[in-house]
Amino acid sequence: MKSLDDIDVAGKTVLVRADFNVPLADGPDGVRVITDDGRIRAALPTLEHLRSNGARVIVVAHLGRAKGEAVPELSLRPVAERLGELLGASVSLVNLADAPAAAATLKWGDVMLLENIRFDARETSKVPEERQALAAELAALADVYVSDGFGVVHRNQASVTDVARLLPNAAGRLVHQEASVFGAIMAEPARPFVVVLGGSKVSDKLGVIGSLITRVDRLLIGGGMAYTFLAAQGHGVGTSLLEADQVETVRGFIEQALSSGVELVLPVDIVAADRFAADAQTEVVSADAIPDGWMGLDIGPRTRELFAARIQDAGTVVWNGPMGVFEMTPFAAGTLAVARAMAASAAMTVIGGGDSAAAVRILDVDEDRFTHISTGGGASLEFLEGKTLPGLAVLEETA
Ligand code: 3PG
Repeated sequence: MKSLDDIDVAGKTVLVRADFNVPLADGPDGVRVITDDGRIRAALPTLEHLRSNGARVIVVAHLGRAKGEAVPELSLRPVAERLGELLGASVSLVNLADAPAAAATLKWGDVMLLENIRFDARETSKVPEERQALAAELAALADVYVSDGFGVVHRNQASVTDVARLLPNAAGRLVHQEASVFGAIMAEPARPFVVVLGGSKVSDKLGVIGSLITRVDRLLIGGGMAYTFLAAQGHGVGTSLLEADQVETVRGFIEQALSSGVELVLPVDIVAADRFAADAQTEVVSADAIPDGWMGLDIGPRTRELFAARIQDAGTVVWNGPMGVFEMTPFAAGTLAVARAMAASAAMTVIGGGDSAAAVRILDVDEDRFTHISTGGGASLEFLEGKTLPGLAVLEETA
């Protein structure tokens, strides 16, 4: 795929696909407030490069799953404002219907953001002709397409894949960096190669576990998904998260790890709670002794030490998914321990996007201590699963 250094953007109008799907909360006076602007900041290197090289920039992005309807809560207005603050320039927010006229008024270095592209049903349509019609409208706005929304490259959508076929294109700085990091991990990871997986559902991670179980040296499992592993080992898990229909599959993973010499590290102790609440009664229990009626909400202190030790001498560490309910202080220690162990290690350390990236920021661990914090949750998992990501494949095909 081409990079920004391979294309000349001076005097051109450049359409940039970014992933500005940021978490929002209700603020005062019904205003929506961005709670983590990491994905907006991650787009700055590309946008600044384009502006300083004399391009006019039109950014296309989505927010949430609008399903083809203009939903006011999913407007990109807060993003346009934040992006303007970060760029130190005014960023106009424009509906697709008004975009041709607005684009004609752009000056060199100007940035305009199109309103949530998923307000248009054609963006995510399964009918190629519908997507292509939207892609043609987008392509007509610009001379060049830059793909920089790594978080959406696993989607076959009009503004991700179809438009890339209609214009000269290149990967932006973010997509280039993310693809290089994950490509290196899949091709030749420095060993020991350690993967830490957490998060609530094992069913979300079956593909990634299946792909990694034969590639890694160690697989550390925490978070809600660990209880299905503990159940597969025959332990009672009280009222902890359990996917009973996955117990057999997980048993297969345990056997596969054993037969391929992969060290599978499961929690040895658990912070159990009598209910799902920040002020619940809690107790540290052995992983095989979660009391009936209690639920595990974090890994315990011995497990924290065990995981840190298994991370410490690694050559590569990839982490996806929190170790506990880190949003509640009594259950944040496990996630914090993994983040700190990675931050202290000399290994190549990569954090998959989504919750673990947010956890690092919320728990105030220095982001600069990691080799790479991905902006793509689903995209990074699919990369690790070894799947072809359509948004990257199209850049290769058309380079
Ligand atoms: C994400 O948040 O992972 C990306 O923006 C993709 O969003 P989607 O899962 O709604 O396609």
